[in-house]
Order: sequence, then C-alpha cells, then structure tokens
Amino acid sequence: MNYDLNVWLNGKLIPWGKATVPLLSHGFSRASAIFEVFGTHVGPQGTMAFRMDEHLKRLMKSAELLEMDVAFSIEKLVEAIKTTVQENHIGKGLVKILAYWSEESVIQLILDTPLDVAIFTIPESQELALDNLKPISACVSKWRKIHPETVPVAAKACSHYLNGYLTRKDAKNRGFDIGIMLGTDGFLAEGSIESVFIVKDGVLITPPVGRVLSSITRMSILQAAPNIGIPVMESAITSDELYSADEIFIAHTGIKVLPVNLFENRKLQTPGPVTKKVMELFANIIHFEDNRFIDWFQKLT
Ligand SMILES: Cc1ncc(COP(=O)(O)O)c(C=O)c1O
Repeated sequence: MNYDLNVWLNGKLIPWGKATVPLLSHGFSRASAIFEVFGTHVGPQGTMAFRMDEHLKRLMKSAELLEMDVAFSIEKLVEAIKTTVQENHIGKGLVKILAYWSEESVIQLILDTPLDVAIFTIPESQELALDNLKPISACVSKWRKIHPETVPVAAKACSHYLNGYLTRKDAKNRGFDIGIMLGTDGFLAEGSIESVFIVKDGVLITPPVGRVLSSITRMSILQAAPNIGIPVMESAITSDELYSADEIFIAHTGIKVLPVNLFENRKLQTPGPVTKKVMELFANIIHFEDNRFIDWFQKLT
C-alpha cells in the first residue's frame, strides 16, 4: 500500500511495511483492537483535522467500554498525529488510529497490558476517493445489527465489523451498493460503516445512539442542520417509516453525506431537497467556506 509513508508506532515513526504484529497476537487472532478514522482537509491555515478532539474522546471511550487502557494520553496522541501528518506531508486524506494488544496469546483471553497504538496517515487517492458524491443504492440486509446487550455497540471495535462485512456482502450479492441493518427489535440501526438518515415531511430523522455507533459525522449533522432551518430528530425508526421515507442518505467520515437513489425496489429523487441542503452545508464546512463551524477543525501543520 503506502510503503513510502511512515507510521507512528508506540512513540516512533517507522516505515509502513514494518508496522506489523505477530499472527498470534491477541489483536490479530482475537480482534482485540479498537480504532478511529478522521478526515484531514486543506484550509487557509494548512492541514486541518475534522473533529479530532471528538474522535480521540471516542477512542478513549471505546477502550473504557471494553475495560482496556490505551498506552498514551490524548495529549500525547495529538502530538503524535501532528508529527505523522507533518512527516508524511499529508494534505487531504485520512488519519487512522489503531489501538490493540500486540502480545501473542494462545489461550489467555484477558491481558493486563495497555493497548499499543499505531497511527497511519492516508492521502486521498483514486482508490480512496473522498467526497465522492455519486448517489448509491441500498437494501435492507438479512443480517441484523449486533444487539447492544451482546457487546457495547458504541465502542468502535474491529470485531464489530464482521457484522458490517456480512451486511455489505449480502447487499453486493443482491446487486446493491450498501446494506442497511435493522436491529433485532426490527427498528432501523445503521449501515456497515455508515449512519443512516431519513427525511419525512421535511424533518431529518436518525436512530438514537445506544443501538448505533456514536458517529461523529452523525453528531455534526444533527448539530449543524438546524442552523439552516432543517429540524432534526433522534428517534426509533420502524421499517415502515424507512420504506416510505421521502429521502434517505447515509453519512460517515470518508464521504460525509451521500444520497440514496434506489432503496430496495423504490427509486428516490436524488438528492432530495433536504439532502441537497445538508450536502451543500457540509461541502461548505469542509472547504472552509462556512466559518460557523471552524472550531470543529484542529490545525495539524
Ligand atoms: C458502524 C458505523 N456507523 C457509523 C459510522 C460513521 O461514523 P463516523 O461519522 O464517526 O465516521 C461508522 C464509521 O466507520 C461505522 O463504522
């Protein structure tokens, strides 16, 4: 992959190819790993992180929910992220932080060491097409979202993505771009790696946290949309409400807001009027043309 870039691993910058773990490490063989991904954007003041403070808070929260400790403080991680971005000359792209147990473990389930940390910086490329606003098709997956009483779904844990993988695979098998999961109670949850919003009678509605990841993009949309006159609501959404929604869009760090043009066998206007306004709002925010949300960015260079 990005073999010419360096990775910050436990305090040192090392070549990308050397940032590895043993196959029998707890992190690899038992997926005891948590992660964060956030965007970097180029603004008048250089490379800026989108809501890095919130992402680092969520990283620590993930560790807490899993009763694990991260080996480095938030302050130290901020310093490490800045170093990695600067050393790799990153402009627009992503920062991915992984925290994991690197020790080998065959039968031991609980380790008492803190989680190691690796920080990757990934520049935008053809493969990593950020802000690609091509509408997508979506279906309801045959797989249900993992129940919050089986694992803490609010933790951004690598192991949760088996659920996400199966959902995406099911959707692809049926010819759709993405799959949307209902919870085991039948209410809307989220996509494999994306939050789901519906629009009904001009109101933007998304499921409450507790059943879904506390997505930073989701939170940002809920905070920003009322500023342009769009009412928002966090509420349990029945599958009937999902099937009859006026508009549907998905959101995540990589692409922010992406309209759904086909939901199951129903064609939807894309972008619908509310989705269009939210897309424009976010495009203006990440291109530094709307300074009302400038404190969402942290300077990295
Ligand atoms: C399950 C799930 N939901 C929602 C999101 C969107 O979260 P964020 O906006 O923090 O990227 C992600 C992102 O990876 C995710 O994995």
